[in-house]
Amino acid sequence: MRSYSLVAPAKINLYLQIVGDRPDGFHELVMVLQSIELADLVTVRAIGTDQIRVHCDHPAVPVDQTNLAYRAAELMMQEFPEMAARFGGVEIDLQKRIPMGAGLAGGSSNAAAVLVGIDLMWNLGLTQWELQELSARLGSDIPFCISGGTALATGRGEQLAPLTSLDHLYVVLAKYRDLPVSTPWAYKTYRQKFGGTYPKSPSEIEAKKARSREMLNAIAHHDFKQIGQHLYNDLELVVLPEFEKIQQIRDQFAKFNPIGTMMSGSGSTVFALAESRSQAEEIRERMRSSIPDSDLDLWVTKLSQCGVHLANS
Ligand code: C5P
Repeated sequence: MRSYSLVAPAKINLYLQIVGDRPDGFHELVMVLQSIELADLVTVRAIGTDQIRVHCDHPAVPVDQTNLAYRAAELMMQEFPEMAARFGGVEIDLQKRIPMGAGLAGGSSNAAAVLVGIDLMWNLGLTQWELQELSARLGSDIPFCISGGTALATGRGEQLAPLTSLDHLYVVLAKYRDLPVSTPWAYKTYRQKFGGTYPKSPSEIEAKKARSREMLNAIAHHDFKQIGQHLYNDLELVVLPEFEKIQQIRDQFAKFNPIGTMMSGSGSTVFALAESRSQAEEIRERMRSSIPDSDLDLWVTKLSQCGVHLANS
């Protein structure tokens, strides 16, 4: 029986700008997405029956169709029925390290790993582009999770252009354990509050996108000070006023002189960038003493240039 174990890295958003509405009901975005070393381990193996089975070491993770990893296996079995008939169903084992409802794309990364794992297991030989095309049907962040690194993401978030790697920087993540934020809620609330101001004409849309150029320049020049100053997330405008505890983490991080601090995606994780592991560890310790709440989880990890990849490779 063949099985593959894959590392499924989390991401943070260095930049998330909502440019306007899209005809498909989603939002037109300009984002800078960044992989980090914090990762789940996803194992896929062929099983004799035609079923999909998901196991997870975290009891709160659903193991049915609501799990994106399940839906990724289902998509592959529908797209390649002759392979499903030949190799049978798929068993997926998820070892979770990435928190949920965190804005770190944990579920998306797991789904990306299932697609890559099944491609290997069935010897399909799909290109990265083909896998990304397929994955975009399941979720906007999944194409990025496949390729990883530092990337400009536009459209729904699925159109990617690689950027200069920032993988020598470190990051501290802070998240309240039982405080998830729903992504659909965050976008819906943003639309309710700010939808009236969305640009309408292509020139207005382009003008709004211009803001991102400063961040792209800062990244191209590895100018950390400028990267810190141009971190940006429109969803903070709706999430921070609603969740006092997230605002509190955000305010505390800012006091510890990181390169910069920002909420990731729709939250609830807030990150602080650091130039070295020792600076990141110092920020974590200062955060630990200023908010001694045992429900606050803190991680020190590194930015990474890897998307989904085979474990031990
Ligand atoms: O694509 P994904 O399923 O990850 O998106 C989750 C939710 O985030 C969507 O259901 C939608 O409410 C919101 N979203 C959006 N515009 C995007 C991406 C996500 O409104 N470009």
